[in-house]
Amino acid sequence: MSYLKLNSLKKTYPNGVTAVKDIDLEIEKGEFVVILGPSGCGKTTTLRMLAGLEEVTNGSIILNGRDITHLPPRQRDISMIFQSYAVWPHMTVAENIAYPLKLRKMDKHTIHSKVQEVARICNILDYLNRYPAQLSGGQRQRVAVARALAVDSKLSLMDEPLSNLDAKLRTSVRTFLKEIHRNTGATTIFVTHDQAEAMALADRIVVMNEGKIEQVGSTREIYNQCGSLFTAQFMGTPPANIQKVSLISNQERLIANDKNAETQFSLDLGNQSAFPGIDRYIGEEIFLAIRPENINISEPKGINETSIEIVEPQGAYTILVTKVFGSEWKIMLEGDIDIRIGQKVSLIIDPGKIMLFDAQSKKRVNFS
Ligand SMILES: Nc1ncnc2c1ncn2[C@@H]1O[C@H](COP(=O)(O)OP(=O)(O)OP(=O)(O)O)[C@@H](O)[C@H]1O
Ligand SMILES: [Mg+2]
Repeated sequence: MSYLKLNSLKKTYPNGVTAVKDIDLEIEKGEFVVILGPSGCGKTTTLRMLAGLEEVTNGSIILNGRDITHLPPRQRDISMIFQSYAVWPHMTVAENIAYPLKLRKMDKHTIHSKVQEVARICNILDYLNRYPAQLSGGQRQRVAVARALAVDSKLSLMDEPLSNLDAKLRTSVRTFLKEIHRNTGATTIFVTHDQAEAMALADRIVVMNEGKIEQVGSTREIYNQCGSLFTAQFMGTPPANIQKVSLISNQERLIANDKNAETQFSLDLGNQSAFPGIDRYIGEEIFLAIRPENINISEPKGINETSIEIVEPQGAYTILVTKVFGSEWKIMLEGDIDIRIGQKVSLIIDPGKIMLFDAQSKKRVNFS
């Protein structure tokens, strides 16, 4: 049985907004799970229901075999770190960390050694006597993490804890959180709308959209085996090239045509046998998605020919912009590519990297 189980969890706020719609999710002990989704999709609401800060409208929450759905926050054994630095300004760092332990009526000696232990893990031993105002943003967030760690909770919830930090600090605190997790093995649910952050941290990613779970999987699955058009659009920098096309079959080749036939462009996707189950989509409209790094270029060969319109050197890689079906598509190539604007090329696409989504349901239709 899983460690944490959410059964048909639902939240409708008094104003009638249903922020979370029948979520089912299972999490194993020690996992680092990231809930990823755009603003307003219900991430904070989900965490607040877990923490007991928000009444559940329907469904249940089982933690370690115990139904905690209606328990008050303090009886749940769950710690939560918020987006804003939720450290108390009028207490020193040591007092901040000790406070929840005092509430639990721990003796002074145990509290002292616990504070020392988590301060050492979080690398804030030197600041124990300082007040939060005397710390940097990153240090303050480490205090919040230390305080959450000190209580030995069964579950650690983090709601965008890095979003107030500047870009450089964000990546360093991110690495720090990953180390902490490796050292403590604390079961963690981390919420973010930043897909790069999610990929860097997660054992598993839960993609949320409009109060529902779109897909659950490892970072690799979520990135390469997108179950829905939404996930394909959301993951990746730059994001996947996406186009609504109509499919035809020509001498056992699968061809994507411009659905409005506005451009003469057609894209040869490869041997039809590389797309099991695609037959019923022949003659139909479908969404086609290809990641920029899954497109290569060659000398023009008469098929899949376009011209390069923009070149964006990035040092380690180069982004090329071209027009496919009249839309801007991006191509990402390793290294510093010597290419001129206006140059004609043929696009080379590995059929195994092409993602196709049903035009109505927006669900993935081809899996290799
Ligand atoms: N107290 C509330 N009363 C009514 N509606 C609310 C309340 N809190 C949140 N909502 C609504 O519920 C939906 C989900 O909000 P939630 O805060 O869970 O989103 P989120 O995914 O955390 O977004 P963000 O990334 O912006 O923090 C939104 O439409 C929001 O406006
Ligand atoms: Mg939120």
